[in-house]
This record gives sequence, C-alpha cells and structure tokens, in this order.
Amino acid sequence: MGISFLLVVFLSLFAHGNFVSGDYTGPYANGGSWVDGFAKAKALTIEEKVNITTGYTGKCVGFTGEVPRLNLTALCLQDGPVGVRPARRVSQFPAGITTAATWNRDLFAARATALGHNDSSTIRRLGPVTGGPLGRAPTGGRNWEGFSPDSYLNGVVSYLSVKHAQEQGVVTCAKHYMAYEQETFRNAYAVLSDPSEGFSPFPPLEQSPISSNFDDKTAHEVYLWPFAEAVRAGSGTIMCSYNELNQTHSCADNHGLNEMLKTELGFQGAVISDWGGTWDTESSAFGGLDVSMPGSAYDGLFGNFYGDELTALVKNGTVSEARLDDMVLRTLTPILHHQDLDTYPQPSFDVRDLTIPTNNVRRDHYKIIRKIGEEAITLVKNNRTLGGGLPLPAPSRMGSLAVIGEDASASPYGATSCGDTGTACLIENNGTMSCGGGSGWNYPPYTIDPLAAINAYVRIDGLDINQHLENWDLVAAATQASRSETALVFLNAYAQEGFDRHNLTSYSNGDELVKAVAAVNNNTIVVLHIPGPVIVEDWIDHVNVTAVIIAHLPGQESGNSLVSVVWGDVSPSGKLPYTVAKNESDWPPNTIISDPVLHPQANFTEKLLVDYKWFDAKNITPRWEFGFGMSYTTFKFGNLSIASTFKADNTSIQPTAESFVRSHADQGSSMYDILYTASVEVTNTGSVHGAEVAQLYISFPQSEDEPLYLLRGFDKLDLAPGKGQTAKFELTRKDLSVWDVVGQRWEIPQGTFTLSTGASSRDLRSDIKRKFI
Ligand SMILES: *[C@@H]1O[C@H](CO)[C@@H](O)[C@H](O)[C@H]1NC(C)=O
Ligand SMILES: *[C@@H]1O[C@H](CO)[C@@H](O)[C@H](O)[C@H]1NC(C)=O
Ligand SMILES: *[C@@H]1O[C@H](CO)[C@@H](O)[C@H](O)[C@H]1NC(C)=O
Ligand SMILES: *[C@@H]1O[C@H](CO)[C@@H](O)[C@H](O)[C@H]1NC(C)=O
Ligand SMILES: *[C@@H]1O[C@H](CO)[C@@H](O)[C@H](O)[C@H]1NC(C)=O
Ligand SMILES: *[C@@H]1O[C@H](CO)[C@@H](O)[C@H](O)[C@H]1NC(C)=O
Ligand SMILES: *[C@@H]1O[C@H](CO)[C@@H](O)[C@H](O)[C@H]1NC(C)=O
Ligand SMILES: *[C@@H]1O[C@H](CO)[C@@H](O)[C@H](O)[C@H]1NC(C)=O
Ligand SMILES: *[C@@H]1O[C@H](CO)[C@@H](O)[C@H](O)[C@H]1NC(C)=O
Ligand SMILES: *[C@@H]1O[C@H](CO)[C@@H](O)[C@H](O)[C@H]1NC(C)=O
Ligand SMILES: *[C@@H]1O[C@H](CO)[C@@H](O)[C@H](O)[C@H]1NC(C)=O
Ligand SMILES: *[C@@H]1O[C@H](CO)[C@@H](O)[C@H](O)[C@H]1NC(C)=O
Repeated sequence: MGISFLLVVFLSLFAHGNFVSGDYTGPYANGGSWVDGFAKAKALTIEEKVNITTGYTGKCVGFTGEVPRLNLTALCLQDGPVGVRPARRVSQFPAGITTAATWNRDLFAARATALGHNDSSTIRRLGPVTGGPLGRAPTGGRNWEGFSPDSYLNGVVSYLSVKHAQEQGVVTCAKHYMAYEQETFRNAYAVLSDPSEGFSPFPPLEQSPISSNFDDKTAHEVYLWPFAEAVRAGSGTIMCSYNELNQTHSCADNHGLNEMLKTELGFQGAVISDWGGTWDTESSAFGGLDVSMPGSAYDGLFGNFYGDELTALVKNGTVSEARLDDMVLRTLTPILHHQDLDTYPQPSFDVRDLTIPTNNVRRDHYKIIRKIGEEAITLVKNNRTLGGGLPLPAPSRMGSLAVIGEDASASPYGATSCGDTGTACLIENNGTMSCGGGSGWNYPPYTIDPLAAINAYVRIDGLDINQHLENWDLVAAATQASRSETALVFLNAYAQEGFDRHNLTSYSNGDELVKAVAAVNNNTIVVLHIPGPVIVEDWIDHVNVTAVIIAHLPGQESGNSLVSVVWGDVSPSGKLPYTVAKNESDWPPNTIISDPVLHPQANFTEKLLVDYKWFDAKNITPRWEFGFGMSYTTFKFGNLSIASTFKADNTSIQPTAESFVRSHADQGSSMYDILYTASVEVTNTGSVHGAEVAQLYISFPQSEDEPLYLLRGFDKLDLAPGKGQTAKFELTRKDLSVWDVVGQRWEIPQGTFTLSTGASSRDLRSDIKRKFI
C-alpha cells in the first residue's frame, strides 16, 4: 500500500472534523506502524462512532456497540491475565508473579503465545497486568496478577507478554494505568458495609477513589517504565485505573494519558476505562479516555458514560468530531491490523450463561503450564547436614512421607462452584491455592493438587503416604507426622481483587501447623503457595525445618510441577521476584491508606525505593532478598566484562517518542538502542544439572539520587555439571539513563557507574567500574 494512498485516507478521515475544541490538547492518532489497520478504518456516522466507544450488555465481560450498517460486530473484551474469564474449557495458567519467578524469557514468550491463541475466540484480552499494581505495598491484593515490584523485571515480562500474545491475533490490554497500588478505596460505585474491604464506607459516589501522589522522576523511573515496555511491544489497548493520579481520575487525566502515554510514549491504541473508572463524559473525552466501560451494562452499577451523552457533546461542538474520530481510530486500528474481522472467530461463550457449550481451547497448554510451575519453584532453605532436606531420596528408598495441610489437596467444592471470581472456594482456604481471586482468576478445567501428584509419583515404588488435610487439628497432624520419616507441610495465603491482605501471616493457622509437625518430625519440609511475601519467622530457624520451597501460584498443574522438583528430576531454578522480610514493619510505612476520609491520599514518599531498593537504602536485612533462590547444584561466577556493542533498536514494534540527551557519537535515535553488552562466565560446579539466573545490577554515579542497586539484566543458563556458559546482559540507552525532571528527558549521567553481577540482589560475585560519558 502506497504512502500517498494512506495519506489520502488519513486526511479524509479527519476532513469532516468540524472544529477542534479548545479544551482537547492531546495528540491525534496516526496509526504508527499499524498502517494497514489505520487505512481500513472507515468513515462512520457520529452515532456509529460513539457506539464503538461505549459499552453495552453482551456476551462478553465488556462489549462495545455494533455498527450493523457495516457489519461491524461488537468488540468482545474478556478477562484476564491467567486465561479467559469467565468461560469454561480454558486453561488456568500460572499467575504473573509465578511467571516472573522463572526469570526465563523463553517461558515468558511461550506463556503469552499460548494465552494468545486466537481460537480462544475473544477479540481483546484484559491483560497482562504490566505494572499497575507494581507491588509497592507487600499486602497489595492484586500484586500477584502482575510480575514484580522491580520495574525492569516487570518490563521484560510485560514486553514479551504483549508481543507474543498479539502475534496470535488477540489484542492485549495492558493494565492498570497507573500507580494503582491498593485495593482499599479503589472505587466508590459499589458499596459494601465493611470499610476494610476495597470499597467506600460512604454512600455511593461520595468518597473519591484513593489518589496516588508521586513525583515526576518516580513516575518515569518506576511506574511508567513497564507501561513503556507494553506500549513499544504494541499493546493495542491500555486500561486506565480506578485510582486518581495527583487528585485527578486517572481515566480523565490529561497529563497521564495525553502527555505521558500518548505523546511521550507515542501510544497509538485506545485507552479503555476500568469498570467504574469513568466519572464523567466530557472531562474523560478531553483527558484522553477512548472507550468507556462497561457503559450502560450492569444496570448502571458503574455509572453510564459516553453513549448518548458523548453524541450530544459532539453534536453541539463541545467535543470535536476530530476527537471522536481519534477515539474510534485508536480502537479499531490495532484490531484491524491484527485481525480480519470477517473471518476472526466470534466468541463461543456467553458470560450470561456459562453452561452454554463453548469451544475447547486448551490444546496442550498443560505442558507449558507445568514447565512454568517447575521453573518458578524457588528453594529458599535447604539444610542437608543430617541427610534431610531436598531433593527427597527416590520413593523406593523412603519408608514414609506425611502430607499435611489443607493446601495439599483438592478443593472440596470443585472448581465449577467457585463463583466466577474464585472467591467462594478460595477465601476459606479450601483446597490448594493455584491462583488468587477476582477478575485475575479463571476457572481451572481441573487442578492437579499436590497430594494427587505425589500419590501418582510413588504408585510403583511404594513408600507409605500418611496424610492429614486440614490445618486446625494439630494433634492429628502431629500424629501423622510422627509416623513418617519426612513431612511435607503445605501452607498458603490468599489474595484477591477488591481487598488488600490484612496481614502477611500464612492462612488458617499455618504457622502453628508447621510448629506442631516440626516438634515431632526432624525432616519437616514446608511448601508455600503464596501471592507475595509471608512472614516465616515463627518457624524458619526451627532445627527440624530442613527445607522451604516457595511454589507461588502455579495454576492447574500445581502438583505435577512440584513433584519433579521435590524428587530432584529437575533442580529448582526460580528466583524471588520480590523481597521477603522478617517483619511487616521492615517495608515502607503506610503503603495502604485506609483512613475513612472523603478524599484519601496515598503519598508515595518512598519514591524510587520500592521493594529491595528500600531494604538496601535502609540497610535492613530481609529474610530472603529479591533475586534469591537456591539450586541442587552450585555455580561459580567469573569476572564481569563489558564491551561497546551498538545495535540500533529493532525491538520497538511501536516506537516511543521519549526524549533523551544525545551521546555516544550520536549513534542511533531510540531509547532502546543497545549500547553495551556486559558478560560473565557461569559454571556449574556441582554434581547435578541445574540452571542459574545470572543477574546484573547497576549503581549510578554517587552524584545521582538513585537506589544503591538496580536490576538491569538477567540471563538464565541451563548447565550440565562441569559446564560453563557466558551470561550476556544487553544494556540499552534507557538502562543507563536517569530521568531529568527539568529537561523532561532521559540522560546518561556523568561519573563512575558500578556494574555488579551475581546470583541475587545481595549475592554479588563480581563487579566493574566505568564511565559511560
Ligand atoms: C449501537 O449498538 C447497539 C448494540 O449493539 C445496536 O443495537 C445499535 O443499533 C447500534 N447503533 C448504531 C447507530 O449502529
Ligand atoms: C453485511 O453482511 C450481509 C450478510 O452477509 C451482506 O449481505 C451485506 O452485503 C454486508 N454488508 C456490508 C456493508 O458489508
Ligand atoms: C504530582 O504533583 C506534583 C505537585 O504538583 C508534581 O510535582 C508531580 O510532578 C506530579 N506528579 C506527576 C506524576 O505528574
Ligand atoms: C452540549 O451538550 C451537553 C450534553 O447534552 C450539555 O450538557 C451542554 O450544556 C451542551 N453545551 C452547549 C454549548 O450547548
Ligand atoms: C489464528 O492464528 C493463526 C496463527 O497462529 C493464523 O494462521 C490464523 O489465521 C489466525 N486466525 C484468525 C481467524 O485470525
Ligand atoms: C543444619 O542442621 C544442623 C543439624 O540439625 C544444624 O546443626 C545446623 O545449625 C543447621 N544449619 C542451618 C544453617 O540451619
Ligand atoms: C532424624 O532422626 C533420625 C533418627 O534419629 C536420624 O537417623 C536422622 O538422621 C535424622 N534426620 C535429620 C534430617 O535430622
Ligand atoms: C472451608 O473452610 C472453612 C474454614 O476453614 C470451613 O469452615 C468450611 O467448612 C470449609 N468448607 C468445606 C466445604 O470444606
Ligand atoms: C490475617 O488475615 C487473615 C485474613 O484476613 C485473618 O483470617 C487472620 O486472622 C489474620 N491473622 C492475624 C495474625 O492477624
Ligand atoms: C525434632 O524432631 C525430633 C523427632 O525426630 C524431636 O524429638 C525433637 O524434639 C524435635 N526438635 C525440636 C526442637 O522440636
Ligand atoms: C515487628 O515490628 C513491630 C513494630 O516495629 C514490633 O512491634 C514487633 O515486635 C516486630 N515483630 C517481630 C517478630 O520482630
Ligand atoms: C500527603 O501529602 C500532602 C501534601 O504534602 C499532605 O498535605 C497530606 O497530609 C499527606 N497525606 C497523608 C495521608 O500523608
């Protein structure tokens, strides 16, 4: 298709914009690299255009109006991050946090490909969660839906999650933009009587949602960073969040949406409101919102914006038709680029009746689900001194094994009765925790619980399994443990959308359960299925607790992922994507604001010091640091080196417009040009196969007001005993830059940097110093 033709299409699309309102100062889309989709977008009447911007009730969680004249069918938006929800015959994938714990780019991509398979028949999927929440508060109810409180790690997973899903035809919706860091007071439409829940204690609409207040440097270096990755990966849509940004609703925030997202990041797609994130039609149209969800659906529970009101505002000139065109083009362009609407399958499910038979879209996804679960398993304690700990001997060489705890077995309810957010089953800790609850949950078609997988694993070679599958009868638990050589104790903690966690304690008497078992069994091994940190100080130093595994939230193949690692078929290679501290008070104070006031304010006073950066700055020793995880083998690191290896950006599917100070012989024009490659030789010095995640941290020159260490690279190497390989860390211009608030641009600072590599954020084995300017 020729440029001139596109130009004609482009101009004709806007020619009928009667006049441009003085109030809209944001940019208009030009399609960026989605030129074909842009060219296909057709001229519509005002009512038809408005229809595309507004939600209606339909067969999907979000359903836009149709344009029958052009056979343009409504757009189906469906949750969510671990698979389509609500729908049956879909797979339940490992949660975001679990995925990140593998630190394996190939698995990030493979999961996204499987999630994106277009025969799931959904036109846009509401995921991934790319940094909202990031995980500022350890108790945040939705942290597990996303990838990590480290912006760099989060950004890498976000980029691959968008790119590989969209390559399958599905259009992603990166969410929730931005700084959506607490559930408490997140919206004021639904009213529940308990003020400790996520909703307002005031009558409907009286209380404003929580305002996230933070400075411009923190915005760019922490919260915007993963969204920049999602945007340059080409995410077709972005969901704006419930919270306010600096006291403006984020779905009507000119600075956040028009200036940062659409101008600085050059976002060409549509901004879609979270369900209840729109508070007003006119200010949202000016503020940068392109699609209001759910519109009139759900009987107005979330308000009823856009639709007829937007039509009236366009007809009387308050909102220009050019802006309406912009909304429509932003919505249709990425879809028309990725999908042929004449042949793209329509949804086979209907959320209003989940018993309607739907297409089975599970394929052989169980393989990748099991593999992610395995590689995510993070071994955080292992004491082999007296022959205990992990891996367990072959079943034929064991006499007996106790399997203890509610989390070891299946839900007594059966998944189908969990309710479409999982809450009914999970909140009371009934059965193994494979996923958190809320819109980030989905129906697992089955769950391989740990006990089922253990029984299957030992079915030929014998050993006795002694089980006790609840957490409160400590005498009965101890009886089973005392009869067994080794005890596996399963603990969990629950988190879901709508609430923040009330504490960081394991659920349902878990700490007491471990202590009761360890009192009578000298090889007590604890498995944690958790959405984020829990405090383990009550029992972690108990001499009989020989090993601890964090298995995160593994999805439907939970037990299968676990047994491979427990018996040593696979060496554990997960690393913590967050910090586990010894006490909740070790994290920054007041990260969840819950004072019942009309205008609650969350001041992000810790600024850049999120997660490990806080612990480093305050010199607080955590229980387990960010990036930590052990193996059944050992690794030696060589000396870090660095070379200048300029490579022009070839990873930005949609280029951003971020400005930066030119340097480096004026080579290149993108923040994502690769300037240097650091490398280090890693050798497996133990006796079994294993994988190590070599990590690169940079320390900016001391003149900069920056965290002591920032992750800026990682490379997972799978190594046979005695074998070595070179870990490589490619450093982009952005990786070495800080945000200049005055100049509104990125800049590589002058002075000496330190680059350190090692096996965790506090196990740094080798470093080098150098200047880049
Ligand atoms: C808008 O969408 C609704 C719901 O799909 C449909 O009934 C109506 O005809 C559409 N309006 C126009 C003007 O196309
Ligand atoms: C819409 O679909 C109908 C039935 O397939 C077809 O007859 C009609 O030509 C189509 N209209 C447009 C504008 O494509
Ligand atoms: C929030 O407001 C403060 C005070 O006006 C300002 O310094 C800061 O840059 C704003 N934050 C963002 C993210 O725009
Ligand atoms: C335009 O229409 C809106 C919605 O009906 C109305 O609130 C507003 O007052 C109108 N403005 C003008 C200038 O007519
Ligand atoms: C679905 O994706 C495959 C590639 O994975 C592609 O060949 C096929 O055309 C897509 N189908 C639709 C309807 O987009
Ligand atoms: C490992 O176990 C031995 C024997 O019980 C004990 O003496 C030692 O303190 C333990 N080491 C650690 C690091 O817990
Ligand atoms: C547990 O106790 C038994 C019996 O005293 C002993 O043989 C075994 O080595 C102990 N195991 C551990 C891990 O302490
Ligand atoms: C689920 O767990 C709760 C709390 O432990 C308990 O009261 C309830 O009976 C359990 N339900 C089932 C079906 O086991
Ligand atoms: C922690 O929170 C859970 C869930 O709200 C609650 O059941 C439990 O009692 C709390 N534990 C402590 C020690 O406060
Ligand atoms: C460890 O387990 C043994 C049983 O194997 C028990 O006799 C001992 O008291 C336990 N130690 C502690 C500190 O509870
Ligand atoms: C955790 O910190 C709080 C507040 O500083 C303190 O009162 C409490 O004793 C600490 N708990 C532990 C187990 O150290
Ligand atoms: C947040 O910061 C503002 C401005 O500095 C201050 O007035 C307000 O009291 C702070 N709110 C809280 C809850 O700390």
